[in-house]
Amino acid sequence: MIDKRRAGRYERIEKQLRGLIEGKSPSLVAAMATICAVLQAKMPHHFWTGFYFVADANELHVGPYQGSVACQILKDRGVCLQSAQTKKAVIVPDVHAFAGHIACDSRSNSEIVLPILKEDQVIAVLDVDSDKLNQFDEDDVAPMARILSLLDPFL
Ligand code: SME
Repeated sequence: MIDKRRAGRYERIEKQLRGLIEGKSPSLVAAMATICAVLQAKMPHHFWTGFYFVADANELHVGPYQGSVACQILKDRGVCLQSAQTKKAVIVPDVHAFAGHIACDSRSNSEIVLPILKEDQVIAVLDVDSDKLNQFDEDDVAPMARILSLLDPFL
């Protein structure tokens, strides 16, 4: 259950990003960079916000992100790969309890990953980490998916 404050923040962020991206972003990467810059700046619980591109069935490569230096290649395991392979959002209240979690920064404690689909194929994922436990739940998925839909014209 996300609180009212966070719900309000999602609405304002979506509006701001719509103004920054629609008819303005020149490319997918530019739009992604803008999304993670705004989310990271405006969401106090975000410790790391960024994208990974699907490179092959078992491998992801980092895209635009904000936060501490990230793993550039994710291979064979991890939360992001699970989302890419299942085509579903993955919510991890405690990353230390997730078998196969890849710790790019040991300060991360909870995480959410959403897939980005083009014609039913996952081409990338949005990954958000928090340095606190239990920061994400099902109620984060719809507002984050609405923000990600700003990428649809570039897919
Ligand atoms: N924890 C992710 C790796 C990416 S970092 O969180 C930036 C995973 O297990 O896929």
